Amino acid sequence: MRAFVLKSYAHPSQISLTTDYPEPRPGPQDVLVDVYSGGLNFFDILQCQGKYQNQPPMPFVLGTEFAGRISANSPIPKGCKLKPGDRVFGAGQGAFAEKLTAPWTSVLPIPDNISYDEAAGLFVTWPTSYEALVGRAQLKPGEWVLVTASAGGVGIAAVQLAKALGAKVIAAAGSQEKLDVSKRYGGADFGIDYTKPGWQQEVLKITGGKGVDVIYDPVGLIKDSLKCIAWKGRALVVGFAAGTIEKLPLNLVLLKNISIVGIHWGAYTKNDRDRVPEVWQELIALLSSGRVKPVVYSEVFPLEKLPDGLVAIEKRQTWGKAIVRIRQDDSVKARL
Ligand SMILES: NC(=O)c1ccc[n+]([C@@H]2O[C@H](COP(=O)([O-])OP(=O)(O)OC[C@H]3O[C@@H](n4cnc5c(N)ncnc54)[C@H](OP(=O)(O)O)[C@@H]3O)[C@@H](O)[C@H]2O)c1
Repeated sequence: MRAFVLKSYAHPSQISLTTDYPEPRPGPQDVLVDVYSGGLNFFDILQCQGKYQNQPPMPFVLGTEFAGRISANSPIPKGCKLKPGDRVFGAGQGAFAEKLTAPWTSVLPIPDNISYDEAAGLFVTWPTSYEALVGRAQLKPGEWVLVTASAGGVGIAAVQLAKALGAKVIAAAGSQEKLDVSKRYGGADFGIDYTKPGWQQEVLKITGGKGVDVIYDPVGLIKDSLKCIAWKGRALVVGFAAGTIEKLPLNLVLLKNISIVGIHWGAYTKNDRDRVPEVWQELIALLSSGRVKPVVYSEVFPLEKLPDGLVAIEKRQTWGKAIVRIRQDDSVKARL
């Protein structure tokens, strides 16, 4: 099969497609999946270079997020309700290949109104943003939310979800193009270029001097954003895309009467297992209703162009989810 196999660590621009790699063999709790689309993540770039917290032994196939069909010859482990031919999305090592194995507990059916390209970027970003806003920040209708990196993978999901939950959203991003994306595909009410000094004053002006009730920050801009947080506001620590782990003077937390709240979605399967199906049930209902819709970057990369996609993420050029397409979606007509 065709796959991006790593035999030594390399920068993503240096990797190439292997055309004759053996199909993976499922373990006792795994299903085998024909991969149609793979979702690109910043951590793929790190894993490629041996810099990620989770490094499989060599050789390994790159990629984690995927969408596809349960293979005709897949085993179906006890308790798994999926069957061969089902359209699914999920996470498992080796997504940038024609086939992968994944634990059946990390594989979910794709709602009928969602394509493979859209589903390939769902598994990590959407539950992160949903649980951050609902479970952690306890967002209420009518509240103000500021989303930083609002056109990025988790950011655009947060913008859409906050709107669907009845909030007023201020999108903050690094270019006019990304602010336009945040409004067009996310439904953001306002857009702010956070590369401009004093951008927090704009946020205060928009909110009539009150500030935002919730800050959703995957960049590492909590300290800067606290200049425009409201009394009793909640600041969500989602990630550090800018590359630096922030330090915060705690007097700000006291003086502004605010909460700093963390979200680590990946740890829920270990620490809060019961919450995972609840989040997915609520999210799938929202996705199926069409009230929220995954956003795919305008250039969908064919599998062999994966390096271009990863380099585009590294250069901060992409918005929404960057996707590689591995097979054509033969089910589109059937679903129309
Ligand atoms: N807590 C969790 O459970 C969880 C789950 C998923 C992801 N995350 C984290 O969330 C962060 C964002 O993930 P994502 O999938 O949304 O990534 P993404 O799609 O690549 O978006 C990241 C955005 O961050 C902004 N950014 C600001 N400074 C940057 C820099 N120096 N280098 C690169 N980007 C920079 C860029 O937007 P602008 O150009 O608009 O500035 C970029 O588009 C990552 O750190 C990731 O690890 C956390």
